Amino acid sequence: MAIDVEEVTGSTPSTTTRTIHVTVNGVAHRSTIQNRMLLVHYLRERLRLTGTHIGCDTAHCGACTVLVDGTPVKSCNLFAVQVDGRKVDTVEGLEKGGKLHPVQEGFHLEHGLQCGYCTPGMMMASVALLARNPNPTEEEIRRGLSGNLCRCTGYVNIVKAVQHAAKKMQEPAKGGA
Ligand code: FES
Ligand code: FES
Repeated sequence: MAIDVEEVTGSTPSTTTRTIHVTVNGVAHRSTIQNRMLLVHYLRERLRLTGTHIGCDTAHCGACTVLVDGTPVKSCNLFAVQVDGRKVDTVEGLEKGGKLHPVQEGFHLEHGLQCGYCTPGMMMASVALLARNPNPTEEEIRRGLSGNLCRCTGYVNIVKAVQHAAKKMQEPAKGGA
């Protein structure tokens, strides 16, 4: 596993900084950060993973949703030090080897986005939803994504995108051993 080590330039250890170890999209990082740094800022500014968006900054919109040990969290509502020793997945980690994740494919093929601002958070919430409920009803999808707002109001196609992904993710099981 790759280890990416970074420190706060020019700073010395103090009571206001802490070194954390976190695995993001399968890459281990050791980072010295300000205690008060939010997870979303750590991901965007320190790791340059700008796919995670900031919308409201007040835990309402869900644009900043990432997975921490598989659980969707609003990364504007968590300090980065709270993920010390944990595994974080962001939208950048969905595509593997040039192949889109079924959720990404669903959003693409079903036109599940307009401006795209809510999309990374919607996708991460969808991944978590399908992990705990592989075959959700429309109502379960709507409830599962109720913490994520789309200002373009493209909810109908977002539901279709998740339904597409659910179907696609069941295909290997159908044709499997
Ligand atoms: S930016 Fe985090 S919930 Fe809106
Ligand atoms: S596609 Fe624009 S906010 Fe959702």
